[in-house]
Amino acid sequence: MASANGERGSWNSKMGFILAAAGSAVGLGNIWGFPTQVADNGGAAFILIYLVCCIAVGFPVMIAELAIGRNTQKNPVGAFRALSNGNPLVPLIGYWGVLCGLMILSFYLVIAGWTLGFALEGILNHLGFEALAGTLTDLGNGTKNAVFTLIFMLFTILIITGGVSRGIERATKTMMPMLLVILLLLIGFIFTQEGATEGLAVYVKPDFSTMNGSLVVSALGQAFFSLSLGMGALITYGSYLNRKQNLVESAAYVTAFDIAIAVIAGLMIIPAMYVAQKGGVAIFDPETGALFSSTTLVFDVLPQMFDSLGGFIGLILGFIFFILLGLAALTSSISLLEVPVSYVIDEFSIRRKTAAWGVGGIVSIIAVIISYDLSLIDLFVAIFNEVGLPLGGLMISLFLGYFWKTERAMLEIQEGNPSFPGSTGGKVWVIFIRYICPVLIAIVLVNTLLIVL
Ligand code: PHE
Repeated sequence: MASANGERGSWNSKMGFILAAAGSAVGLGNIWGFPTQVADNGGAAFILIYLVCCIAVGFPVMIAELAIGRNTQKNPVGAFRALSNGNPLVPLIGYWGVLCGLMILSFYLVIAGWTLGFALEGILNHLGFEALAGTLTDLGNGTKNAVFTLIFMLFTILIITGGVSRGIERATKTMMPMLLVILLLLIGFIFTQEGATEGLAVYVKPDFSTMNGSLVVSALGQAFFSLSLGMGALITYGSYLNRKQNLVESAAYVTAFDIAIAVIAGLMIIPAMYVAQKGGVAIFDPETGALFSSTTLVFDVLPQMFDSLGGFIGLILGFIFFILLGLAALTSSISLLEVPVSYVIDEFSIRRKTAAWGVGGIVSIIAVIISYDLSLIDLFVAIFNEVGLPLGGLMISLFLGYFWKTERAMLEIQEGNPSFPGSTGGKVWVIFIRYICPVLIAIVLVNTLLIVL
């Protein structure tokens, strides 16, 4: 195992770890998923339920993942095995996480690849290459999808081969501040446009008439996805931490940052839709009367809005918006790939470079298949995201609460946070991870299955 341990790596600084974990959390889920879910599900009503899911379920589970990871210093499979007392069922939680990671990454890459095509579109149009620009934004073009997906995969693999501190930490440290600046710039601009305040009103006014079971299912699924929970991404990132880091404080920063970016992204996208409407773009589905959502919103309405602004400004804004989306996706895709890569490094003593290219190659094959058949995205989202991640979260909280036991987890959390076990926060966490999280997740999962079946 000596060579494998040498390949593991660790974070260089406290800030570096927090940014990397926040980078994993902030992604397409925040800038693409969250605003469209808000548009779909009654505006601010969804935001409120979402906040409850993040704070009451996501945050306690994040502390649990980090504690498991740091305690064992292993990938999710190795971590659960190390704490299993020889029970062969326990490592299955880790295997499930690795599988979800592989599958989520394969569709995530396809969507991330679209951002590259759209970033280039305006520029190509401007230079007179309209036909090429049209091809790059044609979501139905499988070959084009596959090429951009593979380019995105290449970036992801190259960062992972650099290792934990020199690859992941360094890349996210550069990209996260850029992402924030771009987001604020875009919001600043959108609010100078006609129609933005109308969109803002829709965004902040709750419509509780749309509240139902499926809204809560969406909110919890979105919370797990956005916070990168339930599949061991944070077990893996936690395994590169030293015992000086305060896990509770780190989890709080990451959760807060992720929520903030989602809310801010909504503050840009929903008003941008109404700006688009003022520019003559249809933003309501003629059949249902509802706001356009998901793919149509981000890859159709928004490009049209940038076009309607016309000239150089529309071109630049469109370009930076899609670069923003691409950067956010990249800091997340590296964490998705790192989970199976760390598993291969630890369990088979394989070098990081070989592991990254090998696992990356396998995921690329699945991603190319999805590039040609986009209906698989919905299927994968339903299985691995909407069911898979909450299921992972349920197993993690049950494992921690009843198998590993909160007393033992507390000994780990105490390192770097000596006062936590005796504090109110500590007691509240125990209640949440043992009772509230499993019960809430189980209720939502049953609801999900009822909706799916
Ligand atoms: N959190 C990422 C996003 O919001 C996606 C992700 C899910 C990353 C699970 C890692 C693990 O886009």
